[in-house]
Amino acid sequence: MLSDRRAFLEKMSQVGALTLLPLSTTLANDQALPAVDEKNHFVVGPYLQNLGTNDVTVMWITHKNCFSWVEYGAGTYTSKREFGYNNGLIEANNRINKITISNLNPGTDHKYRIVSTEILGYKGSKVEFGETITSPMYGFKTPGGNDEEFKMVVFNDIHDRPQIIPQLLYRHGYSGNKRDYDFVVFNGDCFDWVTEEAQMVDHLIKPSVDIFASEFPFILTQGNHECRGSFSRHIPKYFAYPNDKYYYSFRRGPVHFLVLDSGEDKTDDSVEYGGLSAFDRYREEQKKWLEKEIETEAFKKAPFRVLLIHISPWHSGDWHGTMHCREVFGPLLNRARIDLQLSGHTHRYATHDPDATHNFPIMIGGGPLEGKRTLIKLHATAKELNLKMIRDDGELVGKYTIPKKGK
Ligand SMILES: [Fe+2]
Repeated sequence: MLSDRRAFLEKMSQVGALTLLPLSTTLANDQALPAVDEKNHFVVGPYLQNLGTNDVTVMWITHKNCFSWVEYGAGTYTSKREFGYNNGLIEANNRINKITISNLNPGTDHKYRIVSTEILGYKGSKVEFGETITSPMYGFKTPGGNDEEFKMVVFNDIHDRPQIIPQLLYRHGYSGNKRDYDFVVFNGDCFDWVTEEAQMVDHLIKPSVDIFASEFPFILTQGNHECRGSFSRHIPKYFAYPNDKYYYSFRRGPVHFLVLDSGEDKTDDSVEYGGLSAFDRYREEQKKWLEKEIETEAFKKAPFRVLLIHISPWHSGDWHGTMHCREVFGPLLNRARIDLQLSGHTHRYATHDPDATHNFPIMIGGGPLEGKRTLIKLHATAKELNLKMIRDDGELVGKYTIPKKGK
């Protein structure tokens, strides 16, 4: 693990990546590094996932194994408490916390804080508890059931350059003093390849928590680079996805979002994957899900339908991943009355009007180098979708106004 980390740091210095944040000292398997006998503390968090009208998932990581819970309540009170629970056991003796609070009221302000009590060990079957740590108080607001407005910003292709997150959010995430997002999307390739927890914490989760993620949720859609590296199979532990899948749908304001996983860009038998990839099968599985999804009332009746997918099935070269996405998803998407697709992957920002191959506009964000990085801003109202793609220097490099379709 440590040699992985050294290799990673060496690589970053070779490619001239900008200043890295300090790496934490924890391992993937819910165990603190034995050589570092630090006091228990919050490694990162809390960060919000899956904020819905009635529920939210609160996540955080502790340094030592703990029993953890969330104290919360509507208004300014935190009279309630929630913990993880599985097969009759309250979750404990773990570091990565994923606690879902349910039965919330829509459109309501809530306060919350996280609490973790260290578990020193077991004497036989008896637990020995240590000290308790508590976070400051945070707040979030559940979306209303009929919200007509919604704002979101989209990053893509950060590729292990965490400084992009504050740079773009502080410079371009506001209108005047007003925050321009209720929600943040990382549309794939946040990393080059993933080797350990500290990389995910320092290059994605912590920079997000520092700015917004304790009070506004984010999602990470899987890009082809998240599929790579010794830690790639652990990534889902650190985020909350509906049904634990990278492909799903959800509603915010007037928008029904579809999230698809474009998978790897090369064929499954490519030597780089060591015979451990099955993305053709996975895309076929998603196709079956998509066939059903686009026939649901929730999908058909939504004022707008927006697709998030890392590799665009069009205008993204002709490698296998692009072509297979086009083959399996293309015909369904073209008949699904999609209003907009947002992608990354090419590293060249572009907008593509509807044409003979796709009947909806596509916006592809750029990155990761300076002068190519973009932040896509979506403002959805009951009448239209307003899209702006802003380059890191503030230049508007893409724009769409998409009115609500007639019946
Ligand atoms: Fe990519």
